[in-house]
Amino acid sequence: MKQHDNPGRRDWKTWPHYDAAACGFRGYWYPVTWSSHLTGTPAAFQICGEKITLIRDRGSAYALHDRCPHRGIPLSMGSRQFPGTLSCAYHGWTFDLADGVLKAVITDGPDSRICGKVRVRTYPVEERLGMVWVYMPIGAEQPHPIDEQLPEELVAHAFVMGGRIDPRPGNWRFACENGYDEGHAKYLHRTSMWRLFKAMPVWNLTRIERRDRWIYRVQEEQFWSADFPGLGTWSNRRWWKLRPAKTKASNIGNTGATSKVDPVIAAQEFPGFASVSMPGVLRIVYPKFIHYEFYVPVDAGSHRYVGVMVNFAEGLAALRFYAKYLGLIRWLFHGQFSAQDARMVEATDAPPERLYRPDVSLTSWRALAEEEYTRKLEAAS
Ligand code: FES
Ligand SMILES: [Fe+2]
Repeated sequence: MKQHDNPGRRDWKTWPHYDAAACGFRGYWYPVTWSSHLTGTPAAFQICGEKITLIRDRGSAYALHDRCPHRGIPLSMGSRQFPGTLSCAYHGWTFDLADGVLKAVITDGPDSRICGKVRVRTYPVEERLGMVWVYMPIGAEQPHPIDEQLPEELVAHAFVMGGRIDPRPGNWRFACENGYDEGHAKYLHRTSMWRLFKAMPVWNLTRIERRDRWIYRVQEEQFWSADFPGLGTWSNRRWWKLRPAKTKASNIGNTGATSKVDPVIAAQEFPGFASVSMPGVLRIVYPKFIHYEFYVPVDAGSHRYVGVMVNFAEGLAALRFYAKYLGLIRWLFHGQFSAQDARMVEATDAPPERLYRPDVSLTSWRALAEEEYTRKLEAAS
């Protein structure tokens, strides 16, 4: 066989659950919208291919299947006519927000015989990180506590955060794979404003390390310039870019800065600066803050990108960080830098695919997803 005929790995059969999860993995909590955006007017969303409506009533958030059982009108077109209920816009069927049971039918009088006989599916809801999270069940199981699914450091510490939620084209798996992808950042993002003054290596030697429910990318060696035989030298270095000192910090913050590491971040002893966990949560650790991405499946062709930047400061330092987020990070990082990723995610067309050495990051993530989901299904059965 000629070398260029080598077919390599072209499909995703190695990871059957992952392959089948075009609309996401059910059995997890997903962030849907900002808590501050949810009001007493129902709003329509789609998660894991399922249409849901969210509404706030007397302080609490509720999620219902967004379809009236009568004639299939979205309940998100309805309104609240009585406390604790949502009435369909068409004939006024009125459902209990807590359990979805039909409590009244406005156009059939108080003695309507259908009351109590019809039910709309409801979903468990929690509010964390200033967002409304919905549990998408596999069957009739009870959800696991949401705190078991959040990054551990966010459960145990006070923090200040800024973030954005953007609907984006492209399958959620492409978005997650892009987030954890070892190869692209140094090349795709070399033109980003966020990296304007920071040199990036040409290539890295990377290994993947598992710790608890996360896998980490650990950079063993970085190469700042490389000679490509017969072609010449290639480097990301420019005279105006700072070249990070080779310190241990290069594994906790790809700023590679020698600046001191935040004590909360240092205490985590992360093996590597980039890590990923189910059901598609990315963590990028910088010396002073941590960036998270949650890839929320909408349907097979689109997802919701939830990018959050967290700083563990309190008091005045927290205010300073938030001002920096609004003035700088939101536009440079969550804006232009992240838009470069979004273009690639939208354009990705795989499988088939032919992987290369840095893609150990992708195959490790898929293997993690496969293993965790197999275990989840076994536990549920
Ligand atoms: S369709 Fe909802 S009340 Fe008739
Ligand atoms: Fe990227």
